[in-house]
Amino acid sequence: MKNDMEKWETENGVGFLKKIGLKSGQTVLDFGCRVGHYSVPAAKVVGNKGIVYALDKEQQALNELEQKATHLNLKNIRIVNTSDRIRIDLENNSIDVVLFYDVLHYHEKKGRENLYAEAYRVLKQDGLLSVYPKHTLEDDPIMEFQNLSLGEIKQEIQNSNFIFGKKHCGFISHDNGFNQGCILNFKKQIKFF
Ligand SMILES: C[S@@+](CC[C@H](N)C(=O)[O-])C[C@H]1O[C@@H](n2cnc3c(N)ncnc32)[C@H](O)[C@@H]1O
Repeated sequence: MKNDMEKWETENGVGFLKKIGLKSGQTVLDFGCRVGHYSVPAAKVVGNKGIVYALDKEQQALNELEQKATHLNLKNIRIVNTSDRIRIDLENNSIDVVLFYDVLHYHEKKGRENLYAEAYRVLKQDGLLSVYPKHTLEDDPIMEFQNLSLGEIKQEIQNSNFIFGKKHCGFISHDNGFNQGCILNFKKQIKFF
């Protein structure tokens, strides 16, 4: 029988990510994927014709994800091991969806702004930036979010050339368990020169 996390990765999380806006055939970047609690369901949603770039700086977590992908016969997950740097080694305008899930609080303001700029660069014109801003003042504040509200983070992203679209809340994966959380979706603001 599947445990709760296996059920999330292969069933409930699949449904949730579809609600967020992921579709079959898309290319997704899961930045800061850890062991893939979102990469695995994303891979199930995008299917054989899609790709999920699962990027992290923790080799051990990536090894665990790789083993899981093999066990589940998911051939569309591309593991990307990076240093702590912010540059994303993907082409301009090549990605349909960027996930920043429970990762922005690792980075100070300048780093976060660089991350938004990188998301803007790699996303296609109609691409989706999907953010799980865990650990703000309203929700167990820690690290670089310990003095920041959800509203401030939302504004910061909008100041980086993104337009807020929709908020999706639910009982979602966090670390090795689950909690009530909200995902914020943004679209690219098109720049006219
Ligand atoms: C709390 S975990 C979230 C994992 C996953 N996104 C989730 O929601 O289940 C944050 C992950 O982001 C990774 N991370 C943070 N900053 C990073 C960076 N600059 N480059 C690569 N990985 C990073 C950490 O190594 C960690 O595995």
